[in-house]
Amino acid sequence: MKKLLLAGGAGFIGSHLVDRLLKRNDLDMLVVVDSLWTGRAQNVDHIRDQRLVLVRSEVEHFKSDFQFDEIFHLASPASPRSDFNPMVTVECFQSRMWCSK
Ligand SMILES: NC(=O)c1ccc[n+]([C@@H]2O[C@H](COP(=O)([O-])OP(=O)(O)OC[C@H]3O[C@@H](n4cnc5c(N)ncnc54)[C@H](O)[C@@H]3O)[C@@H](O)[C@H]2O)c1
Repeated sequence: MKKLLLAGGAGFIGSHLVDRLLKRNDLDMLVVVDSLWTGRAQNVDHIRDQRLVLVRSEVEHFKSDFQFDEIFHLASPASPRSDFNPMVTVECFQSRMWCSK
């Protein structure tokens, strides 16, 4: 049974991926990390599945003691808002590098 991490799961693509991943029968836990910067809590908070854990956090500041079997990283805005800060994108990119280690 697998523990999965999905960053950006309250976004457009991520919320559909949540639905898809929850259909897997090898899933033990799905942790969704999202800052709700461009995503919406309503995209996922209606889901009643005890395997789903929602964490509101910047992915670059997220820490966990779990060893995840698979990591999906969609925490990057497709259409940045007017308060877009390019340094966030850089930090996010660095966190992707960390995730892939
Ligand atoms: N939508 C498309 O058609 C499309 C096409 C090709 C590639 N992509 C890529 O797929 C990814 C997701 O796209 P989307 O359309 O779902 O975008 P989206 O903006 O709807 O979703 C991104 C999610 O990531 C979250 N997020 C952003 N920065 C974060 C951070 N630092 N920490 C935690 N959460 C953060 C947002 O709150 C949001 O929920 C993007 O990288 C995008 O460039 C999208």
